[in-house]
Amino acid sequence: MFKKLQGSFCWKLALSVLSLSAVSCGPLNLEDVTYGITLRDTKEKFNIFTDGSVATNIEQLEDGSVSWVTTAAGGAGGGVAFYVKGNKEEINIENYESIDLEMDYSVVEDKWSAEAMNPSFCMRILPWDSTGMFGGYEDLEYFDTSSNSGSLTYNIKIPSDFSEKLKSSSDFDSVLGFAIKFNDYNRGNNDGDELKVQLKNIKFNPKKDAAEDKAFDDGLTDSQRGTVVEINYPTRDYTVNEADLTDADRYEKHAWVYLPAGYDASDKETEYPLFVLIHGFGQNENTWGLSNKGRGGKIKGYMDRGMANGSVEKFVLVVATGVASKNWGPNGLGTDIDGFYAFKGELRDDLIPYVRANFNIKEGRDNVALSGLSMGGGQTFTIGILECLDLISNFAGLSPALFVEPADFKATIEGNKDFDGLMIHNLYMTTGDADTLILEKYPAFVEAMRDWDRIENFKDYIFPGGTHDFPVWYKGFNDFIQMVFKNKNAEVVLPDIDAESSDDAEISVDAENPVEAEDSADDENSD
Ligand SMILES: *[C@@H]1O[C@H](CO)[C@@H](O)[C@H](O)[C@H]1NC(C)=O
Repeated sequence: MFKKLQGSFCWKLALSVLSLSAVSCGPLNLEDVTYGITLRDTKEKFNIFTDGSVATNIEQLEDGSVSWVTTAAGGAGGGVAFYVKGNKEEINIENYESIDLEMDYSVVEDKWSAEAMNPSFCMRILPWDSTGMFGGYEDLEYFDTSSNSGSLTYNIKIPSDFSEKLKSSSDFDSVLGFAIKFNDYNRGNNDGDELKVQLKNIKFNPKKDAAEDKAFDDGLTDSQRGTVVEINYPTRDYTVNEADLTDADRYEKHAWVYLPAGYDASDKETEYPLFVLIHGFGQNENTWGLSNKGRGGKIKGYMDRGMANGSVEKFVLVVATGVASKNWGPNGLGTDIDGFYAFKGELRDDLIPYVRANFNIKEGRDNVALSGLSMGGGQTFTIGILECLDLISNFAGLSPALFVEPADFKATIEGNKDFDGLMIHNLYMTTGDADTLILEKYPAFVEAMRDWDRIENFKDYIFPGGTHDFPVWYKGFNDFIQMVFKNKNAEVVLPDIDAESSDDAEISVDAENPVEAEDSADDENSD
């Protein structure tokens, strides 16, 4: 398919972790490349997915190979991600039967734990919407070596069901690239152990009579795609009493924001609902993979496609860290339980006001949704519904950690005078049927929600074979965005005579009357 290599080839790339500077560039001459990715009968240089790699000393050598140093980090050792094709066109993994890998590796002297086993690697396949080696990947194979340093030539078989697996999590059999990860999980490595790797060649072997690869096509034009921006909003440590706050307890927090196709900051007349999405225990605002890098991540694809085909109402999505204490991150480990519990203050008084002040957001609780996975699903119930029903009316708990008994949960809402008459417009719940963490409490909770008359629209989905993992959460997200923000006039008491033109007439009785008035005294952060 590739007769000629396009673009220019930079001979000596001086690469550091996330920056790339070309020393000298010129047109690529095929004969110059000793090594490189071989696809069918073409040979391409290695093309580094700079933003999606996690390694130091990344160097492209004269012979076309690439070397780097990767570091053990609590089982999440890094590595380098590569585009399969120089022009970032995808290949269809279905057309290939195996991958030949050729590389040298050596442990870095004085930086290798005496207890560590020989180096181990993972070949990771990056679907079209991956944001790099840690975003939206599928593991193809883990493989170990038999000495501390050496050369490895290895043939990795692509299982016959791999393409289906990829499609079930990414929707397309389209591969943007691959990553070679240092596997430091349960291998006796200490954090900081270092491994030097040199990738010399990689060859994707097509099946006999394989079809041609097709360029990726999701049917959308660029103008149908949303954009992703970053925000840093002022907030504080909500685990600290207000009277005891010091400067160290006030900070700005990073979050990702998705703006739908057609969003125009200067068009204040066109406003959108707001959706806040959070992560689970041990995770952070990057976990969902929404990003302004690469293709922007899987959930961006769901939003772009769903909004373009009309099954999803356009909204602004904020993916934030649900840990409201100063050890939140960025890129934090998200393990501060007190910070998780205290998220109410940040959500009500800082995050939502900031987003309302800085983006074109529709007024009222009808137009706000909250969802999270696992721990964040727990927060969706205990913080979103129990503490913020006056501000939010749409919820999704994805494999939610259920902290409350359903009867107590309902009684608490029914007994809260401030929430009188406030309906839950949409509640969605999902779990995998192989998720032992969640299954014990899930069925009783779902039954209790199903016949609760405070909920207008309830759906739940049991994911067959699903574990406590992303396939379940991605599907849950895609399901929920297709049901949310559609009962727009549920709280309008007068008969709804013209659904099409009634946006301006939305009534939200409680938006101006926050329940937690005593808590919002210090809220000066709305811009
Ligand atoms: C619209 O796109 C979403 C996201 O890809 C998809 O799940 C849904 O099935 C599509 N709906 C229609 C009617 O095509």
